[in-house]
Amino acid sequence: MLASKCSVLWCLFVGLILGGVQAALDFNNDLDNSQKFKSIPTTVKTYENDTVQLPCTLNTPFRYVRWHRDDVALVDSRHPEIPKLDRIMLWPNGSLQVSNVQSSDTGDYYCEMNSDSGHVVQQHAIEVQLAPRVLIEPSELTEQRIGATIEVVCEAQGVPQPVITWRLNGKDLLPQSNSGNRQSLVLDIKSRNQAGLIECLANNGVGEVAVASVYLHVLFAPEVSQPQPVVYTKLGARAHLECIVEAAPAATVKWFHHGLPVTLGAHSTSHESELQGNRSLDHYVNAVRHLLVVKSVRNADMGQYECRATNQIAGKSGNVELTGRPMPCLFKINPGIQSSTSHVLVWQTESLLPIMEFKLKFRQIPSNNATRQIRTNWTELTIPAQATNGLIYITTYTLHGLQPASLYEVSVLARNSFGWSDNSKIVRFATGGEVELPNYSTESELQEDLADEDFHNEITQRSEILTASMMFNSGSISCNGITALIYFTCLIKLVLLLS
Ligand SMILES: *[C@@H]1O[C@H](CO)[C@@H](O)[C@H](O)[C@H]1NC(C)=O
Ligand SMILES: *[C@@H]1O[C@H](CO)[C@@H](O)[C@H](O)[C@H]1NC(C)=O
Ligand SMILES: *[C@@H]1O[C@H](CO)[C@@H](O)[C@H](O)[C@H]1NC(C)=O
Ligand SMILES: *[C@@H]1O[C@H](CO)[C@@H](O)[C@H](O)[C@H]1NC(C)=O
Ligand SMILES: *[C@@H]1O[C@H](CO)[C@@H](O)[C@H](O)[C@H]1NC(C)=O
Ligand SMILES: *[C@@H]1O[C@H](CO)[C@@H](O)[C@H](O)[C@H]1NC(C)=O
Repeated sequence: MLASKCSVLWCLFVGLILGGVQAALDFNNDLDNSQKFKSIPTTVKTYENDTVQLPCTLNTPFRYVRWHRDDVALVDSRHPEIPKLDRIMLWPNGSLQVSNVQSSDTGDYYCEMNSDSGHVVQQHAIEVQLAPRVLIEPSELTEQRIGATIEVVCEAQGVPQPVITWRLNGKDLLPQSNSGNRQSLVLDIKSRNQAGLIECLANNGVGEVAVASVYLHVLFAPEVSQPQPVVYTKLGARAHLECIVEAAPAATVKWFHHGLPVTLGAHSTSHESELQGNRSLDHYVNAVRHLLVVKSVRNADMGQYECRATNQIAGKSGNVELTGRPMPCLFKINPGIQSSTSHVLVWQTESLLPIMEFKLKFRQIPSNNATRQIRTNWTELTIPAQATNGLIYITTYTLHGLQPASLYEVSVLARNSFGWSDNSKIVRFATGGEVELPNYSTESELQEDLADEDFHNEITQRSEILTASMMFNSGSISCNGITALIYFTCLIKLVLLLS
């Protein structure tokens, strides 16, 4: 008894389902009958506020026409009284007109027609094109330290779906992983040079490309540079010690002398000024020049100074030496004819105190075997200085007893009552005859040479065997404007000429 009741209910249920399927099949069948239509299924791509017409025409006269969108009935020729949107209108020929289209009108539209030959349905679509819009997060400005990782998210809207691309300081970045209308850009902040404008661009071919941007400001520890690490002075002179500091956020700078804070007042003053310039890509960072002015140098003012720059991230110091020592000597090109066993050297230096003596060091360098380890020791000569009328000293000195057809390198220092100057650059020359140049004669390598050189340990040989003849140039300061020549390059040229 119970079982038969159940089976009746089951039958009803299955009947309902099948009925539904049947209805769906009918609908597909109606769509299949589209050859009865004169109009063809269309997707109308349009813009906001435009007016569109979706056609619906049969090859034969129709009895009635009905439009619906998804499940919502829009218009029905049999029921003109059905309330409808103002923007929607049914023409007598069956066309549907949608005026002032909104993005919400995007969708599928079905036209149902009934005629003598039956019931048919045709599908149309409206796609309202929307210019892209884009949002970026974070926006405007983001401050990040070196070492941080930043994620910038960009969300774009528009029809069709816009393509998102990224730019950093105007340069395109590689495509990022996409997820629908959102994209994120992950940047590891490794250097302050990454600072700049991050832009997210969305383009779908409709209207203008949309751009949203955020400025990435990289925070970094102070960077200190000294345009003049050694300031040459004399008692009573006015001295300027300078440090250039870049930092984000801005750094505070304090001056120290022999490790103690400099007392600012009538004797010493400090100044700072922003440097206009393009040293930094990041327009939120400025280089600041910090100046310590010592009005009238006393003996106690000489020595090492430190400009200590500190910001929230770290501190960094720069050292500037105030000294009365002579400036490093510079070798000058000697255009005179060189013999095969002697060489005339000319050098120049400047000292505010009288120069007492020079120390000239030279040695032969292997010319046909580039094994750099095999080095002869430096030979050192002491050369007394002659009085000069001014601050500039030009000295001419001839080295005798050299090997013919050989390469030498030479360096010179000057001493005044304050102490020894730094070493001059090492310069190379060749004595007359055939010379094969070793392959390591570049300026940079010479610099490197100078750095790891320890002259004092290597000086073993005194110069008695060499007869030193000296000629002094008593010329005075008029040569102040002498252009700094690249002596080394010229010497090499000379050597090439000789060989
Ligand atoms: C459409 O009209 C609205 C209201 O007048 C206006 O705000 C909008 O910008 C128009 N859209 C386009 C694509 O012209
Ligand atoms: C239907 O009628 C409208 C209004 O007269 C006309 O603009 C449209 O072109 C017609 N459509 C077709 C397919 O004939
Ligand atoms: C600005 O940049 C140019 C070219 O890179 C450079 O020559 C110039 O020295 C820079 N100026 C400053 C103040 O850094
Ligand atoms: C360079 O010197 C080394 C050691 O004296 C020697 O073995 C080598 O043959 C020399 N090379 C040349 C090209 O003269
Ligand atoms: C060079 O100097 C070192 C250290 O003073 C010494 O041991 C070595 O014998 C010297 N070489 C020559 C060739 O004089
Ligand atoms: C110097 O360099 C040239 C070219 O690179 C090479 O042919 C020559 O053998 C090198 N000479 C020595 C001594 O290494």
